[in-house]
Amino acid sequence: MKIIKLKLKDRSYNIITGRNIMNRLASYISELNIGKDAYIITNSTINRNYGKLLSKALKKHKFNVRFKLVKDTEASKSIETASLIIKDIANFDKKKRIFIIAFGGGVIGDLAGFIASIYKRGIPYVHVPTTLLAQVDSSIGGKTAVDLREGKNLLGAFYQPRLVFSDTALLKTLSVRQIRSGLAEVIKYGIIKDPQLFGYLEKNIKAMLASKQSALGFIVGRCSHIKALIVQQDEREEKKIRTILNFGHTIGHAIEAAGNYAGYNHGEAIALGMMAASRISEKRNLINSATLQRIENLIGEAGLPTSIKNVPFGNIIKSHYRDKKFIGSRNRFVLTKGIGKTVIVDNIPLNIIKEALKRLF
Ligand code: NAD
Ligand code: GLY
Repeated sequence: MKIIKLKLKDRSYNIITGRNIMNRLASYISELNIGKDAYIITNSTINRNYGKLLSKALKKHKFNVRFKLVKDTEASKSIETASLIIKDIANFDKKKRIFIIAFGGGVIGDLAGFIASIYKRGIPYVHVPTTLLAQVDSSIGGKTAVDLREGKNLLGAFYQPRLVFSDTALLKTLSVRQIRSGLAEVIKYGIIKDPQLFGYLEKNIKAMLASKQSALGFIVGRCSHIKALIVQQDEREEKKIRTILNFGHTIGHAIEAAGNYAGYNHGEAIALGMMAASRISEKRNLINSATLQRIENLIGEAGLPTSIKNVPFGNIIKSHYRDKKFIGSRNRFVLTKGIGKTVIVDNIPLNIIKEALKRLF
């Protein structure tokens, strides 16, 4: 078991990673002194696989538990779902000290964190992430959000959890597609910050795809550590430090939105976004063609998409204007200057973006 401390003064918390550690969750929650009434937000897939395990672990330590299931889709990240859940929490909340457990992937985590941030102006919440993507990325750092029809993650707050508890044994039921999706964010960490991790992935990608526990344990620990270091330096993305985590996300989010969140999943879209950002980087002479090739090869070896199908080019260009990093009409891209190094560049001409994107069709 590994304990990583994310240091943010009075908002500091532990990220605990390990294998088969669910029986230790309740004692870590007890230490936080956040109450005995656990409101668990999850979905039927996760509940079917692990609901009893979580319930048993909490009840053994005399927690009251209430499970709330939402639909297993990105559409659950909506203000309508949040509103229904908040009413349910208010009904449950009679003479209680409620805290929320986000038990699921990034969809559940973003939604549950958002609800925790606004109910009674903020109640404590704990992440128990169940996807690779959530364990390496979305559960850490306090970005909470729901989507609007107008764009992804447009409504949300920075609101830190009190604990992140990642048991890699829960990943064994993930489909290969979901493992790949998480690997996209892991590749991102290699490109933006960690050449050694990138090299490790190049050598061990098959073990990852086979969900080998030792490989998963290594990357969950390593990525959690990198993310904690970044977030504690720039919690609210104000100093151009946290911004680098958005490598591949400008075009990636646009691909997700242009496909109405029904085509490519988050990791797949980010993989395509990283391909586009890397090509723009090469075009700007920030990387040479050999580095571009290494990035493209790793994305391909991970079984992630390397070309775009069934999402119209024009819709992606239209959607990319909604990126939260836009400052007025100036866009902002995170580009790579070599494996492990980034640069933030504003105002990339539209023709260069279009050219990079066209090469993916
Ligand atoms: P997800 O939450 O939709 O989960 C993917 C699928 O895996 C779902 O069908 C889910 O039911 C299933 N699943 C979850 N755990 C399982 C398990 N252990 N076994 C079997 N199936 C399981 O998708 P995701 O990729 O985890 O998250 C994507 C979301 O995360 C997007 O909405 C994205 O915007 C968000 N995100 C947020 C941040 C952040 O910093 N807050 C960062 C990255 C992504
Ligand atoms: N996933 C981007 C961030 O947490 O900042």
